[in-house]
Amino acid sequence: MAGLIPPPLIPPGPPAWRVLGRVVDIPEGGAKGYPPAGPDFAGLFAVRRGAVLRVYVDSCPHLGVPLAWMADRFLSVDRSRIVCAAHGAEFRIEDGVCLHGPCYGDALTQVLIEINDGRILVPAEAGRFAGRDVAD
Ligand code: FES
Repeated sequence: MAGLIPPPLIPPGPPAWRVLGRVVDIPEGGAKGYPPAGPDFAGLFAVRRGAVLRVYVDSCPHLGVPLAWMADRFLSVDRSRIVCAAHGAEFRIEDGVCLHGPCYGDALTQVLIEINDGRILVPAEAGRFAGRDVAD
């Protein structure tokens, strides 16, 4: 729904974590993509700005497809916004809200993270497709 910002993905109860990667592997001011954790998952991507790191589900709110046209190309040329290569939607880095494009007002799904000894931890369920029966 346009205009609503989804909260970070926080599973009920204490989260089981999985290691996404290392902070040092994400260039300052840049972004890095991570493959899906399994067949029922979307990929994730991280954007780093100084000491602030944000992780989003790699699924555009317009059509639910991955954003990048090639590996790790999630940002605009000036690195000021996240961009979806499919139809050019532009998202604010700070909260994932679409500021321009066909999903204007919608937002990327931000993922809860924890940094531990330089490793990026995300909830084990981060990126799992909603409403999909795991038994299928
Ligand atoms: S699928 Fe991302 S803008 Fe259309």
